[in-house]
This record gives sequence, C-alpha cells and structure tokens, in this order.
Amino acid sequence: QELKLNLEEIEKGGFEHFMLKEIYEQPRAILDTYRGRLLAKQGIIKMAGVDENLEKLLNANRIIIVACGTSWHAGLVAEYIFEDLARIPVEVEYASEFRYRNPVITDKDVLIAISQSGETADTLAAIKLAKEKGAFVFGVCNVVGSSIARETDAGAYTHAGPEIGVASTKAFTTQITVLTLIALKLAKEKGVFTTTRFHEYLTELEQIPAKVEKALESNALVEIIAEVYKDSTNCLYLGRGYNFPVALEGALKLKEISYIHAEGYPAAEMKHGPIALIDEHMPVVVIATNKGHYEKVVSNIQEIKSRKGKIIAVVTQGDQQVKELADHVIEIPETLESLTPLLTTIPLQLLSYHIAVMRGCNVDQPRNLAKSVTVE
Ligand code: G6P
Repeated sequence: QELKLNLEEIEKGGFEHFMLKEIYEQPRAILDTYRGRLLAKQGIIKMAGVDENLEKLLNANRIIIVACGTSWHAGLVAEYIFEDLARIPVEVEYASEFRYRNPVITDKDVLIAISQSGETADTLAAIKLAKEKGAFVFGVCNVVGSSIARETDAGAYTHAGPEIGVASTKAFTTQITVLTLIALKLAKEKGVFTTTRFHEYLTELEQIPAKVEKALESNALVEIIAEVYKDSTNCLYLGRGYNFPVALEGALKLKEISYIHAEGYPAAEMKHGPIALIDEHMPVVVIATNKGHYEKVVSNIQEIKSRKGKIIAVVTQGDQQVKELADHVIEIPETLESLTPLLTTIPLQLLSYHIAVMRGCNVDQPRNLAKSVTVE
C-alpha cells in the first residue's frame, strides 16, 4: 500500500493532483503533438494518415465529427476551424445520438471520431455504423493501439501522453492541435490558402507552447478568483465563435470536478434564457478576446453588469475596455483567432481546479464519473 502511494507521488511529479500536472504539461504536450508534423521552415505539414488519404479527404462532401464529452467540445472547435480555414462543411454529433438516429451517411462522407481513450462505446459504435455505410473513417485518439484507433481507416494520434485525471485537459488542447494541422493541410491542398497565409499559421502554431506557458502564469490570480466564487451554486460561461465551445468546456470542467452547476452558452444566446438567471449571486465567465466578435461580447458584459452579475473575463493582453467593466480579468497572449481556444481554455481549467480543491472535492476522481466509458 505504502509503495503504491509513493509510486503515485512520483507519477504526480511534485504536483498535488494529476489534473494540475496535466494542465501544466500542455505546452510540452502540444509541442509533442506537432513535432515532426509541423515543419514551419519548409512550409509543410506532414501527417501520414492525411497524406495517404488526401484524395478521400479533399473530395469529401462533408465531414461528420462524432465524439462524447470533452472530445465533443474539441469537435465543435474543429467545426469552426474546418469551415473557416478549409471551407469544408462540417457537422458535429454526439456519438450516442448519431448512432441511433438512422443518420444519412454516404461514401462521399468522411467521419472523424475524436476520443482520448479510444474506448468510448458510443463513439466506437458510431464508427462501425459509418463504415457499414461506406464512409471513410479517420480517428483522432490519444491512446495508441486503442479500439477506436484500430477500428478506423486512418488516423492521427494526439501524443499528449497518459491522461490520468478523469477531467480531460491536455487531451482537449492536443486534439484541437491535431485537428488544426489537418484543416491547415487541407486548406493548403485545396488552394483556399495562399502560401503567405499558410506560413503565418505555421509560424504562429509554433509559438503556441510558449503562449500556453504564459497563460499558465495566470495561476496565482485564478486561485484568488477561485477563493471568491468557491461557494457559488451556479456559474455561467459565455463565448462566441471559436470560443463558444471553450465556454461549454469551461462549464463542463467546473461541473465535473467541483459539482457546481454550470452552463456554457454562446454569448449572443444569453438574451434567450440565461439572462433571466443573472443577479448579484451569479458569476459569469466571459471569453472576450480581441478577435472575432469583441464589441458584441463587450455589450453582453454590459448587460450582465447592469443586472449586477459578477464578471470574470478572459481577455487579450493589453485589453482596456473589458478591464473597466469586469470584476476580474485574466489575460492571455495575443494569437490568431482560430488558435485562441488553445489559450482561453487554460485559465478555465485552472479555475475549476482551484475551486474543486477549495471545496474539498476529489479532483482526479470525481464522483460518478469514469475516465473511459466503455458501456452505453
Ligand atoms: C468520459 C470522460 C471525459 C471524456 C469522455 C469522452 O466522460 O470522463 O473526460 O471527455 O468520456 O472520452 P473519450 O476517451 O472518448 O475522449
């Protein structure tokens, strides 16, 4: 027993929990994900699974992404990336709904299945169904040799390293990294990207690990914010565009490990419901980076303020406007709009982590949840 405990301490590498260790591993994990694939100087992206199936991917009528949980949120980010950058239509589906819906699938469709464990029963079943209907199935998994990795026609591993904490962190950001690489490659091959634009993305992607490192520096501030809101019963997360799925993921993280009820919403949908919940007891986490729909998100913040809601805003370094309105601001470095999820996610992971620790929750093994769901 003692030996087992010591071994676990060693595995945690000096961190109090696996989750915190995995949050801090993200700069390295993202680097490992694109190492050998992103060759910025040569101006190429090399991915065997994509290179060998380029025609199928380029000729796809549409891409259907299936996943569950946090992986589904990575799929939602990928929808923005694929449509915006590569101009390929994308649908994102919960595997559990897709498989039972009698979906329309043809041999012109490409299905991308995203799964950290590679063992999620519903995702596996969705893959089998799509294959039966003749679709080409591509897997994005973390666990090498897992069932989903074996069942798919081709794929790309995330190389995040083992993820022990039940709440997924580094798997999420590395899934987004892989999917960004694929989208960029297809954008280039399709000719929708100029060489200059392609280079701009490759160079910026190379900066991401250092920028994630910078985002992690918000940890002490996030801990102070966590102290203020740890006893909340509800929390709202808002984001738009690329950061709408990040809002969903932020809310999921808080729910999973701190047991505080949290909801993620596209900021503009606030007026169709959640605004009714806002009063002085409601913390609202708003992602308000300077790209995309900044001004619109600022006016959402004003609406929350006028109803006395408490605002925790994730902003771009140097932001002035939101700083004047929000109760707390957490800065992240500037990057291209489509890469912001890789940075905005970081403080949200830390926020849920600290709140859960302060509430005395079992961060690495939250009640009722499993790391890998191999049953329906
Ligand atoms: C479980 C885990 C989540 C995970 C989801 C999908 O619910 O607790 O962290 O996101 O399954 O798992 P997968 O391994 O398919 O990504």
